[in-house]
This record gives sequence, structure tokens and C-alpha cells, in this order.
Amino acid sequence: MSLANQFRPYPLDNAHTLAARHHQALSALLDPITINRIHGLVSLAGKRCLEVGAGAGSIAHFLAEEVGERGTVTALDINPIHIQPHPRLSIAEHDLTVDPIDGSYDFIHARLVLSHLPERGPILYRLIQALAPGGYLLIEDWYIPDRTIDDMVIAAPSPVPCQNSSHRG
Ligand SMILES: C[S@@+](CC[C@H](N)C(=O)[O-])C[C@H]1O[C@@H](n2cnc3c(N)ncnc32)[C@H](O)[C@@H]1O
Repeated sequence: MSLANQFRPYPLDNAHTLAARHHQALSALLDPITINRIHGLVSLAGKRCLEVGAGAGSIAHFLAEEVGERGTVTALDINPIHIQPHPRLSIAEHDLTVDPIDGSYDFIHARLVLSHLPERGPILYRLIQALAPGGYLLIEDWYIPDRTIDDMVIAAPSPVPCQNSSHRG
């Protein structure tokens, strides 16, 4: 059984009491890596950016600062309750599995989103279609070679976070 099928539907609902801590932890762990990667990839001044599955919006806010006054950023999430406003940030509730992606973007980013969604093939196609000519699509997901989901659970600091957030169909 594939990893995606074991996690149907998406198990880490943003309405969960632990969701804010979950997003804080992801941000602290991964934002420096993501930001370094984006800086090495493209200059975003004046660009139109799209952040999908934005979580608490830490990268969306980073993008909003990077694009400057002439740029724009759209942050989409199926439950965007944790995303704080920013003058250059449009925030929208959006289900990547069914909703069309409007607009044309110079930079699109998705981190730890597609691996959760079994429908990621068509979603990837829609993301590519939403790129402006010469645009960049950056997708970041866990890659754990030669490990199973059970290894990952065993490697967690305690079983409690796994029990709180996992759903096995
Ligand atoms: C593991 S979190 C990652 C959040 C953020 N991208 C990060 O790396 O910090 C996955 C995010 O994707 C969102 N998500 C899950 N399914 C989605 C869907 N079908 N459409 C849009 N967003 C979705 C969740 O609400 C959650 O905020």
C-alpha cells in the first residue's frame, strides 16, 4: 500500500488543537532550508507568487516580503485559519483536489502537501498550468529512502503525536 493511500483523507486538520504547534515546528525546522533553496533559485522582486497548502503561512509571509511593493502573493489552504494577514498577501480557502487554480504565477511553492494527497498527479498538472512563461515550481516533500511508515512512527519522540494526528484507512 502506498504512503498516500495510508493517509486518506488528509490527517492533520488545521482545526486540531495541536495544529498551531505542528506548523510552528515545521516552520522552525524547514523554513531556513526552503528560504535558502528559493534564494538559490530565483529573485522574487516584483513577482507573482502562489503558496499552496500554506499551513500557518510562514513561507507565504517570506514571499510577501521578498516580492516587494510591486509583487503579489496568494496563499491557498483547505483550512487557512492559521495564516496571518499581510498587505501583499491574498489568502483563500482552496481544496487542491477539486478547485481550479486561477491566475498565472512566476513562482509556485508547495511544501509537505502533495505527498498527503493521492490525487497529486492531476494537482501537479494544474500547478504547472498555472505557471507564467519562465515561471518556477518548487515542490518540497519528505524523502526517506528505504524506510516504511512504521519506521517513521517508531522514530517519532513518542507515540502520542502519531496517535493524535494519524489516520489509517
Ligand atoms: C503538513 S502541512 C504543511 C504546511 C506548510 N506547507 C509547511 O510546509 O509548513 C499541509 C498543509 O496542506 C493543507 N492541505 C491539506 N490538504 C489540502 C487540500 N486538499 N487543499 C489545500 N490544502 C490542503 C493542510 O491544511 C496543511 O495546512
